[in-house]
Amino acid sequence: MNPQTPAKIVVTGRIPEAGLDALRAAGDVWAWDSDEVIAVDVRNEQLAAADVAVTLLTDKVDDAFLDAAPNLQLVANVAVGYNNIDVAACTERNVQVTNTPGVLTDATADLAMGLVLMSTRRLAEGERLIRSKTPWQWGMFMMLGTGLQGRTLGIVGMGGIGAAMAMRARAFGMNIVYHNRRSVDEATEQLLGGARRVDLDELLATSDVVSLNCPYSKETHHLIDIDALSLMKPSAHLINTARGPIVDEEALAKALKTGLIAGAGLDVYENEPTVHPGLLDLDNVTLVPHLGSATVETRTAMATTAAANVVAVLGGRDALNPVTA
Ligand code: GLV
Repeated sequence: MNPQTPAKIVVTGRIPEAGLDALRAAGDVWAWDSDEVIAVDVRNEQLAAADVAVTLLTDKVDDAFLDAAPNLQLVANVAVGYNNIDVAACTERNVQVTNTPGVLTDATADLAMGLVLMSTRRLAEGERLIRSKTPWQWGMFMMLGTGLQGRTLGIVGMGGIGAAMAMRARAFGMNIVYHNRRSVDEATEQLLGGARRVDLDELLATSDVVSLNCPYSKETHHLIDIDALSLMKPSAHLINTARGPIVDEEALAKALKTGLIAGAGLDVYENEPTVHPGLLDLDNVTLVPHLGSATVETRTAMATTAAANVVAVLGGRDALNPVTA
Protein backbone atom coordinates (compact mmCIF):
# COMPACT_ATOMS: atom_id res chain seq x y z
CA MET A 1 0.00 0.00 0.00
CA ASN A 2 1.25 3.48 -0.86
CA PRO A 3 1.65 5.31 2.50
CA GLN A 4 0.00 8.40 0.94
CA THR A 5 -3.15 6.53 -0.07
CA PRO A 6 -5.66 5.90 2.71
CA ALA A 7 -6.26 2.22 3.37
CA LYS A 8 -9.49 0.78 2.02
CA ILE A 9 -11.48 -0.89 4.77
CA VAL A 10 -14.39 -3.06 3.71
CA VAL A 11 -16.97 -3.85 6.38
CA THR A 12 -19.01 -6.78 5.15
CA GLY A 13 -22.00 -6.35 7.47
CA ARG A 14 -23.79 -3.78 9.58
CA ILE A 15 -21.84 -2.94 12.77
CA PRO A 16 -22.46 -0.29 15.48
CA GLU A 17 -21.64 3.28 14.54
CA ALA A 18 -18.92 3.59 17.20
CA GLY A 19 -16.94 0.93 15.35
CA LEU A 20 -17.44 2.63 12.01
CA ASP A 21 -16.36 5.98 13.46
CA ALA A 22 -13.13 4.46 14.74
CA LEU A 23 -12.52 2.82 11.36
CA ARG A 24 -13.18 6.06 9.47
CA ALA A 25 -10.29 7.62 11.36
CA ALA A 26 -8.02 4.87 10.00
CA GLY A 27 -8.94 4.80 6.31
CA ASP A 28 -11.59 4.89 3.62
CA VAL A 29 -14.48 2.82 4.84
CA TRP A 30 -16.97 1.01 2.64
CA ALA A 31 -19.63 -0.67 4.76
CA TRP A 32 -22.49 -2.94 3.77
CA ASP A 33 -25.58 -1.28 5.17
CA SER A 34 -28.20 -3.96 5.51
CA ASP A 35 -29.02 -6.78 7.90
CA GLU A 36 -29.25 -9.13 4.90
CA VAL A 37 -26.07 -11.14 4.32
CA ILE A 38 -24.03 -9.36 1.65
CA ALA A 39 -24.20 -10.86 -1.87
CA VAL A 40 -20.93 -12.43 -2.99
CA ASP A 41 -20.60 -10.32 -6.14
CA VAL A 42 -21.13 -7.06 -4.23
CA ARG A 43 -18.65 -8.18 -1.60
CA ASN A 44 -16.04 -9.26 -4.15
CA GLU A 45 -16.31 -6.00 -6.05
CA GLN A 46 -15.37 -4.14 -2.85
CA LEU A 47 -12.74 -6.66 -1.77
CA ALA A 48 -10.83 -6.14 -5.04
CA ALA A 49 -9.18 -3.01 -3.63
CA ALA A 50 -9.47 -3.80 0.09
CA ASP A 51 -6.53 -3.56 2.49
CA VAL A 52 -8.67 -4.64 5.43
CA ALA A 53 -11.86 -6.69 5.71
CA VAL A 54 -13.97 -6.33 8.83
CA THR A 55 -16.10 -9.47 8.88
CA LEU A 56 -19.01 -11.01 10.74
CA LEU A 57 -19.51 -14.64 11.70
CA THR A 58 -21.83 -15.02 8.72
CA ASP A 59 -18.89 -14.41 6.33
CA LYS A 60 -16.97 -17.42 5.15
CA VAL A 61 -13.40 -16.26 4.75
CA ASP A 62 -11.99 -19.00 2.55
CA ASP A 63 -9.86 -19.21 -0.58
CA ALA A 64 -12.64 -17.71 -2.70
CA PHE A 65 -12.90 -14.72 -0.37
CA LEU A 66 -9.13 -14.27 -0.28
CA ASP A 67 -8.82 -14.68 -4.08
CA ALA A 68 -11.16 -11.71 -4.43
CA ALA A 69 -8.94 -9.57 -2.16
CA PRO A 70 -5.40 -9.59 -3.53
CA ASN A 71 -4.20 -6.63 -1.40
CA LEU A 72 -5.65 -7.80 1.89
CA GLN A 73 -3.50 -7.35 5.01
CA LEU A 74 -6.01 -8.03 7.75
CA VAL A 75 -9.30 -9.78 8.45
CA ALA A 76 -10.78 -8.32 11.65
CA ASN A 77 -13.62 -10.62 12.70
CA VAL A 78 -16.29 -8.97 14.85
CA ALA A 79 -16.71 -12.10 16.96
CA VAL A 80 -14.73 -14.12 19.44
CA GLY A 81 -15.28 -17.32 17.44
CA TYR A 82 -13.38 -17.52 14.19
CA ASN A 83 -14.43 -20.87 12.76
CA ASN A 84 -15.82 -18.88 9.79
CA ILE A 85 -12.23 -18.03 8.84
CA ASP A 86 -9.68 -20.32 7.23
CA VAL A 87 -6.84 -18.98 9.36
CA ALA A 88 -4.24 -21.23 7.71
CA ALA A 89 -5.19 -19.91 4.26
CA CYS A 90 -4.93 -16.33 5.57
CA THR A 91 -1.51 -17.00 7.11
CA GLU A 92 -0.26 -18.54 3.86
CA ARG A 93 -1.16 -15.29 2.11
CA ASN A 94 0.30 -13.07 4.86
CA VAL A 95 -3.13 -11.89 5.88
CA GLN A 96 -3.43 -11.30 9.62
CA VAL A 97 -6.57 -12.35 11.49
CA THR A 98 -8.00 -10.82 14.67
CA ASN A 99 -11.06 -11.50 16.85
CA THR A 100 -12.83 -9.81 19.77
CA PRO A 101 -12.24 -11.88 22.91
CA GLY A 102 -13.19 -10.71 26.40
CA VAL A 103 -15.82 -8.13 25.56
CA LEU A 104 -18.62 -10.64 25.09
CA THR A 105 -17.79 -12.94 27.99
CA ASP A 106 -20.42 -11.63 30.42
CA ALA A 107 -23.20 -11.26 27.85
CA THR A 108 -22.70 -14.83 26.62
CA ALA A 109 -22.47 -16.25 30.14
CA ASP A 110 -25.67 -14.37 31.08
CA LEU A 111 -27.47 -15.85 28.10
CA ALA A 112 -26.18 -19.35 28.88
CA MET A 113 -27.47 -19.05 32.45
CA GLY A 114 -30.76 -17.77 31.05
CA LEU A 115 -31.04 -20.90 28.93
CA VAL A 116 -30.31 -23.06 31.98
CA LEU A 117 -33.24 -21.47 33.79
CA MET A 118 -35.47 -21.60 30.74
CA SER A 119 -34.77 -25.26 30.20
CA THR A 120 -34.85 -26.51 33.80
CA ARG A 121 -37.91 -24.41 34.71
CA ARG A 122 -39.74 -24.89 31.40
CA LEU A 123 -40.14 -21.16 30.90
CA ALA A 124 -40.53 -21.12 27.11
CA GLU A 125 -43.04 -23.95 27.33
CA GLY A 126 -45.04 -21.95 29.88
CA GLU A 127 -44.89 -18.86 27.71
CA ARG A 128 -46.08 -20.83 24.70
CA LEU A 129 -48.98 -22.19 26.75
CA ILE A 130 -50.22 -18.71 27.61
CA ARG A 131 -49.75 -17.39 24.08
CA SER A 132 -51.69 -20.37 22.72
CA LYS A 133 -54.69 -18.93 24.63
CA THR A 134 -55.36 -22.39 26.05
CA PRO A 135 -57.28 -21.97 29.34
CA TRP A 136 -55.01 -22.77 32.28
CA GLN A 137 -55.23 -22.88 36.03
CA TRP A 138 -52.52 -22.92 38.69
CA GLY A 139 -51.98 -26.50 39.77
CA MET A 140 -49.70 -28.21 42.29
CA PHE A 141 -48.26 -30.41 39.62
CA MET A 142 -48.38 -28.04 36.70
CA MET A 143 -45.20 -27.81 34.60
CA LEU A 144 -42.83 -28.91 37.30
CA GLY A 145 -39.19 -28.35 36.53
CA THR A 146 -36.08 -29.03 38.54
CA GLY A 147 -34.15 -26.79 40.94
CA LEU A 148 -30.47 -26.00 40.54
CA GLN A 149 -29.36 -25.89 44.17
CA GLY A 150 -26.86 -28.62 44.98
CA ARG A 151 -26.87 -29.86 41.38
CA THR A 152 -23.80 -30.20 39.20
CA LEU A 153 -22.97 -28.02 36.22
CA GLY A 154 -20.50 -29.55 33.78
CA ILE A 155 -18.67 -26.96 31.70
CA VAL A 156 -17.11 -28.19 28.47
CA GLY A 157 -14.45 -25.60 27.62
CA MET A 158 -13.29 -23.66 30.67
CA GLY A 159 -12.12 -20.45 29.00
CA GLY A 160 -13.34 -16.99 29.92
CA ILE A 161 -16.98 -17.66 29.04
CA GLY A 162 -16.97 -21.08 30.74
CA ALA A 163 -15.56 -19.57 33.94
CA ALA A 164 -18.03 -16.66 33.84
CA MET A 165 -20.87 -19.15 33.43
CA ALA A 166 -19.54 -21.19 36.36
CA MET A 167 -19.47 -18.06 38.55
CA ARG A 168 -23.11 -17.41 37.78
CA ALA A 169 -24.02 -21.04 38.47
CA ARG A 170 -22.28 -20.86 41.86
CA ALA A 171 -24.66 -18.04 42.79
CA PHE A 172 -27.49 -20.49 42.09
CA GLY A 173 -25.90 -23.03 44.45
CA MET A 174 -24.49 -25.35 41.79
CA ASN A 175 -21.30 -27.40 42.04
CA ILE A 176 -18.92 -27.22 39.11
CA VAL A 177 -16.99 -29.82 37.15
CA TYR A 178 -15.26 -28.99 33.92
CA HIS A 179 -13.58 -30.54 30.95
CA ASN A 180 -10.70 -28.63 29.42
CA ARG A 181 -7.36 -29.37 27.84
CA ARG A 182 -5.61 -27.76 30.81
CA SER A 183 -6.63 -27.25 34.40
CA VAL A 184 -7.52 -23.70 35.31
CA ASP A 185 -5.41 -22.23 38.10
CA GLU A 186 -6.09 -23.36 41.64
CA ALA A 187 -7.33 -19.94 42.76
CA THR A 188 -10.04 -20.03 40.08
CA GLU A 189 -10.99 -23.59 41.03
CA GLN A 190 -11.30 -22.45 44.67
CA LEU A 191 -13.31 -19.39 43.67
CA LEU A 192 -15.65 -21.76 41.86
CA GLY A 193 -16.24 -23.73 45.05
CA GLY A 194 -13.60 -26.36 44.38
CA ALA A 195 -14.36 -26.93 40.70
CA ARG A 196 -12.83 -30.21 39.48
CA ARG A 197 -11.41 -31.03 36.06
CA VAL A 198 -12.75 -34.38 34.87
CA ASP A 199 -12.73 -36.28 31.60
CA LEU A 200 -15.62 -35.75 29.22
CA ASP A 201 -17.30 -39.09 29.93
CA GLU A 202 -17.32 -38.43 33.68
CA LEU A 203 -18.63 -34.91 33.12
CA LEU A 204 -21.46 -36.18 30.93
CA ALA A 205 -22.38 -38.97 33.33
CA THR A 206 -22.40 -36.86 36.50
CA SER A 207 -23.70 -33.44 35.44
CA ASP A 208 -27.28 -32.27 35.83
CA VAL A 209 -26.62 -29.48 33.34
CA VAL A 210 -23.95 -29.68 30.63
CA SER A 211 -22.91 -26.35 29.12
CA LEU A 212 -20.86 -26.19 25.94
CA ASN A 213 -18.42 -23.28 26.02
CA CYS A 214 -15.60 -24.56 23.84
CA PRO A 215 -14.50 -23.31 20.41
CA TYR A 216 -15.63 -25.18 17.32
CA SER A 217 -12.90 -27.03 15.45
CA LYS A 218 -12.35 -30.35 13.69
CA GLU A 219 -11.73 -31.83 17.15
CA THR A 220 -15.02 -30.60 18.60
CA HIS A 221 -17.21 -31.38 15.55
CA HIS A 222 -20.10 -33.50 16.87
CA LEU A 223 -18.40 -33.81 20.25
CA ILE A 224 -21.93 -34.30 21.53
CA ASP A 225 -23.22 -37.18 19.44
CA ILE A 226 -25.61 -39.98 20.31
CA ASP A 227 -22.93 -41.80 22.34
CA ALA A 228 -22.22 -38.68 24.39
CA LEU A 229 -25.94 -38.03 24.89
CA SER A 230 -26.40 -41.64 26.00
CA LEU A 231 -23.92 -41.05 28.81
CA MET A 232 -25.95 -38.16 30.20
CA LYS A 233 -28.51 -38.60 32.96
CA PRO A 234 -32.12 -38.85 31.74
CA SER A 235 -32.81 -35.85 34.01
CA ALA A 236 -29.99 -33.73 32.53
CA HIS A 237 -30.13 -30.61 30.35
CA LEU A 238 -27.73 -29.62 27.56
CA ILE A 239 -26.97 -25.94 26.91
CA ASN A 240 -25.14 -24.78 23.78
CA THR A 241 -24.07 -21.15 23.40
CA ALA A 242 -20.79 -22.02 21.62
CA ARG A 243 -21.19 -23.23 18.03
CA GLY A 244 -23.92 -25.39 16.54
CA PRO A 245 -21.87 -28.14 14.88
CA ILE A 246 -20.38 -29.18 18.25
CA VAL A 247 -23.70 -30.99 18.64
CA ASP A 248 -25.10 -33.61 16.26
CA GLU A 249 -28.55 -32.00 16.03
CA GLU A 250 -30.19 -35.10 14.59
CA ALA A 251 -28.96 -37.10 17.58
CA LEU A 252 -30.05 -34.38 19.98
CA ALA A 253 -33.57 -34.32 18.55
CA LYS A 254 -33.74 -38.08 19.00
CA ALA A 255 -32.37 -37.89 22.56
CA LEU A 256 -34.92 -35.23 23.53
CA LYS A 257 -37.79 -37.08 21.91
CA THR A 258 -37.00 -40.45 23.47
CA GLY A 259 -36.21 -39.10 26.95
CA LEU A 260 -32.50 -39.91 26.79
CA ILE A 261 -32.04 -36.43 28.28
CA ALA A 262 -34.63 -34.11 29.85
CA GLY A 263 -34.11 -30.85 28.02
CA ALA A 264 -31.87 -28.54 26.04
CA GLY A 265 -31.33 -24.84 25.53
CA LEU A 266 -29.76 -23.81 22.25
CA ASP A 267 -28.49 -20.46 21.00
CA VAL A 268 -26.54 -21.87 18.05
CA TYR A 269 -27.35 -24.39 15.33
CA GLU A 270 -25.56 -26.92 13.21
CA ASN A 271 -26.71 -25.38 9.92
CA GLU A 272 -27.48 -21.87 11.08
CA PRO A 273 -29.91 -20.24 10.47
CA THR A 274 -31.74 -23.49 9.70
CA VAL A 275 -32.86 -25.43 12.76
CA HIS A 276 -33.23 -29.20 12.55
CA PRO A 277 -36.96 -29.83 11.95
CA GLY A 278 -36.91 -32.56 14.59
CA LEU A 279 -36.27 -29.92 17.25
CA LEU A 280 -38.94 -27.47 16.23
CA ASP A 281 -41.92 -29.42 17.53
CA LEU A 282 -40.39 -30.50 20.83
CA ASP A 283 -41.46 -28.76 24.01
CA ASN A 284 -38.35 -29.76 25.94
CA VAL A 285 -35.93 -27.68 23.89
CA THR A 286 -35.58 -23.90 24.16
CA LEU A 287 -34.48 -22.29 20.91
CA VAL A 288 -33.13 -18.75 20.64
CA PRO A 289 -31.53 -17.16 17.56
CA HIS A 290 -27.79 -16.80 18.33
CA LEU A 291 -28.23 -13.98 20.84
CA GLY A 292 -25.18 -14.70 23.04
CA SER A 293 -23.52 -11.34 22.53
CA ALA A 294 -26.68 -9.45 21.61
CA THR A 295 -26.64 -6.50 23.97
CA VAL A 296 -26.15 -2.92 22.84
CA GLU A 297 -23.08 -2.58 25.09
CA THR A 298 -21.47 -5.80 23.96
CA ARG A 299 -22.05 -5.38 20.24
CA THR A 300 -20.64 -1.85 20.50
CA ALA A 301 -17.58 -3.14 22.36
CA MET A 302 -17.10 -5.90 19.76
CA ALA A 303 -17.15 -3.35 16.93
CA THR A 304 -14.75 -0.97 18.66
CA THR A 305 -12.43 -3.86 19.55
CA ALA A 306 -12.33 -4.96 15.91
CA ALA A 307 -11.69 -1.34 14.91
CA ALA A 308 -8.86 -1.03 17.46
CA ASN A 309 -7.20 -4.04 15.84
CA VAL A 310 -7.54 -2.40 12.42
CA VAL A 311 -6.08 0.88 13.71
CA ALA A 312 -3.15 -0.96 15.31
CA VAL A 313 -2.29 -3.02 12.22
CA LEU A 314 -2.68 -0.11 9.78
CA GLY A 315 -0.54 1.98 12.14
CA GLY A 316 2.24 -0.59 11.84
CA ARG A 317 1.73 -1.92 15.38
CA ASP A 318 0.99 -5.44 16.61
CA ALA A 319 -2.63 -6.56 16.46
CA LEU A 320 -4.29 -6.49 19.89
CA ASN A 321 -6.12 -9.78 19.44
CA PRO A 322 -4.21 -11.85 16.90
CA VAL A 323 -5.53 -15.25 15.91
CA THR A 324 -3.12 -17.91 14.71
CA ALA A 325 -3.73 -21.26 13.03
C1 GLV B 1 -20.47 -15.08 18.71
O1 GLV B 1 -20.98 -16.13 18.51
C2 GLV B 1 -19.06 -14.84 18.66
O2 GLV B 1 -18.28 -15.76 18.39
O3 GLV B 1 -18.65 -13.69 18.86
